[in-house]
Amino acid sequence: MTRFASRVFSGVQPTGNLHLGNYLGAITRFVEMQKTHNCIYCVVDMHAITVWQDPAELAHNTREVTAAFIAAGIDPQAHIVFNQSQVAAHAELAWIFNCVARMGWLNRMTQFKEKAGKYRENASVGLFAYPTLMASDILVYRATHVPVGEDQKQHLELARDIAAKFNHDYGKSIADHGFGDAFFPLTEPLITGPATRIMSLRDGTKKMSKSDPSDYSRITLTDDADAIALKVRKARTDPEPLPSDVDGLKGRAEADNLVGIYAALAETGKADVLRDHGGSQFSAFKLALAELAVARMAPIAEEMRRLLADPAHIDSVLADGAERARSIAQDTIDSVKDVVGFVRGRSA
Ligand code: TYM
Repeated sequence: MTRFASRVFSGVQPTGNLHLGNYLGAITRFVEMQKTHNCIYCVVDMHAITVWQDPAELAHNTREVTAAFIAAGIDPQAHIVFNQSQVAAHAELAWIFNCVARMGWLNRMTQFKEKAGKYRENASVGLFAYPTLMASDILVYRATHVPVGEDQKQHLELARDIAAKFNHDYGKSIADHGFGDAFFPLTEPLITGPATRIMSLRDGTKKMSKSDPSDYSRITLTDDADAIALKVRKARTDPEPLPSDVDGLKGRAEADNLVGIYAALAETGKADVLRDHGGSQFSAFKLALAELAVARMAPIAEEMRRLLADPAHIDSVLADGAERARSIAQDTIDSVKDVVGFVRGRSA
């Protein structure tokens, strides 16, 4: 078996309204992984335009996600932070993967079905091919681990299927070119912790999402203390007090969600939260949750504001990250071209 050096890759779309789900489900995990792995974190602007984005807002949102990464504790010098469109190899490899992946595989993607909805015929081709670009993001760095929230699980399974089919279809050429018995790793999704699926504050059965029309459904990373407190106060709940153990959260989606958010913010488990707050009324629990959320999130919002006041600095971080990403990705794409049989001309 070919061994791959361990490397982490993950991405976030710059589509505005970056929220607590993105922070607790993904970004805090990104921060943790830095201690043990080489990490590459990408603002996936090419994925964002699979649905319409106003150009000025896209540029702003790209800088905002970058600021959020840095404010949350990602170190862009020790690791790599960049925006996808600056590294052309993502698009090049995605085309090759479009020719490896099967229509049937993509037809099964639930996110496409949800996003395209009733207007499938009118969805962009990019929205349909979204998961092949995502596989390319990961595999152009031959990343071995990808921390994400629960909603990305199916896309990561597809990335593994694409890697396996590429390794299989080109097996002989891969060996002939000296790459052993596999060119791409079968990447492992890392979907763990208490916050892999944070739900809407308005409806405990719906995922917290950037595109929910209700602003009260999510706490965003740019909300100030008053907005956070108000949204927690208005969060939907049921009339019963909190249970004293995790079993008691069954069938109580909103209670389960708020306890999960509390646990993730406090970096503990739901059982511990219920040990302290079991039997409390929601009015009291919400006050404690708002206080905790403000203590944790307000410094990040403030640091983001400070960073966003100097967009040229953010752009220089992205340029530096892109340069380092490009050199890794270029190596992969050159080798892939050899494996596939694309002639790479060299001047005489
Ligand atoms: P995106 O931008 O929708 O979300 C970024 C990250 O946040 C996680 N997330 C959540 N986690 C918990 N609860 C929620 N309610 C919640 N909502 C979102 C997502 O799972 C994700 O980890 N397709 C990806 C971006 C991407 C990518 C990649 C990720 C492009 N290429 C390669 C990993 C590897 C997306 O749309 O994430």
